Amino acid sequence: MQYVLALDQGTTSSRAILFNRRAQIVSLEQMEFAQHFPQPGWVEHDAAEIWRTQLAVVRACLRKAGVAPEEVAAIGVTNQRETTVLWDRKTGEPIAPALVWQDRRTDDRCEALRKEGVEPLVNGKTGLRLDPYFSATKIQWLLDAVPGARARAEMGEVLFGTVDSWLIWNLTGGAVHATDITNASRTLLCDIESGQWDDELLQLFEIPVAMLPRIVPSSGLIGHTAPSLFGRPIPIAGAAGDQQAATFGQACFEPGHAKNTYGTGGFLLMNIGETPRMSTNRLITTAAWRLDDSPVEYALEGSVFIAGAVVQWLRDGLRFFNAAEEIEALARSVPDNGGVYLVPAFVGLGAPHWDSDARGLLIGLTRGTTREHIARAALEAIAFQCAEVLEAMSRDARTALKELRVDGGASRNDLLLQFQADISGVPVIRPAITETTALGAAFLAGLAADVWSDCAEIASLWRVDRVFEPSMSLDQKESLMNQWARAVGRARKWNQ
Ligand code: G3P
Repeated sequence: MQYVLALDQGTTSSRAILFNRRAQIVSLEQMEFAQHFPQPGWVEHDAAEIWRTQLAVVRACLRKAGVAPEEVAAIGVTNQRETTVLWDRKTGEPIAPALVWQDRRTDDRCEALRKEGVEPLVNGKTGLRLDPYFSATKIQWLLDAVPGARARAEMGEVLFGTVDSWLIWNLTGGAVHATDITNASRTLLCDIESGQWDDELLQLFEIPVAMLPRIVPSSGLIGHTAPSLFGRPIPIAGAAGDQQAATFGQACFEPGHAKNTYGTGGFLLMNIGETPRMSTNRLITTAAWRLDDSPVEYALEGSVFIAGAVVQWLRDGLRFFNAAEEIEALARSVPDNGGVYLVPAFVGLGAPHWDSDARGLLIGLTRGTTREHIARAALEAIAFQCAEVLEAMSRDARTALKELRVDGGASRNDLLLQFQADISGVPVIRPAITETTALGAAFLAGLAADVWSDCAEIASLWRVDRVFEPSMSLDQKESLMNQWARAVGRARKWNQ
């Protein structure tokens, strides 16, 4: 048994990556799936398509590598977080579209709850904010919208799960209904200190306990795949939300270690150890992972809703280029942004603004503005948003971060990473393997399956590809950040 298989179910694609004991990629398969935007602010997925594409890439990945199921020591699952799936326990069919983490339809509900004054209670127990981003109000919306769903959920006939849970249910042929602590900590229903579902929160969001999965550690045996799927059962021994998995894959094992992932969104997490300290700078506190019987470890997180997705928007919405990689050459062909700022508040703004009413804005246009300037402004916007989060995090940590480890699709973009280092004044480190989300899931599963012995061994497998040192003058940095802040100010509260 030499391999560990990671299932990385993201917002825009399902991926399967097979790693060997040296943490090298042996084979990788990926399939995009449909995004549905039925109304402004609504974002849906078809959970059946998520499962279909995930299963297809797993099979293709093993086939391509010529690896038999018995050579796979364990499977680790990692997933887009918060996305809410409700399904029928008997048929295994979803009862409605999955409401994606970006979906803002429950904004009014959150506002009403805020007016009731319950936010401090929710924040104190969960470490999160009362925001449509998280699962609770999405579950509540579905239970109210689908006829008969609430009554059936109360009888345990309709089940809830985030995508990890949905995949584990399908992988085990319906035998296991579980979620790991990191995913549970994103629902607004879990007390992050006890690591358990919280009765008071369940009551507040009117969610029947019978529909909830069991909460399990991020590393430890969860179940086995149904024999019919791959010919023989494979142990599922790890699960974590994608951002927590990436933090693990970046070997951020010490308090103060931080990583940023440039995916659909941008997610900066900093390890804060075994005490769930709350942010005073509009960040959130989240479970980072739990290894078998060890205590839960925590992280501070700044979630930026649109990062790589702004590049996708230039490609698909504005047809600026055919492939996302082309943005770097385009942006490089001009010396600077020409005074153009793009605030990609397409679904409002996440940390540190948390403004559902903000909308996207392109400002500073002149007769001389070109496509190239807009491309550059888009890349810079990704870095500006992350720099704002870094600033908040340094204030929370009461010390400047020493370095930032980065990963995700856009971390291949040198221009972006150099600008990130410049604008945040911190060395930005790109590791040799930027597939750290999948790698983290593999590490979590491989630890439980004794492929790797401990975190020290894992840390020794993490290697640097390139360090981007900050080189911009303080004056220039401040002037750019000020301009950005002014642009954000214009984009905010647009809907009010
Ligand atoms: O919280 C949402 C996050 O987990 C989505 O990650 O990589 O699919 O953008 P990604």
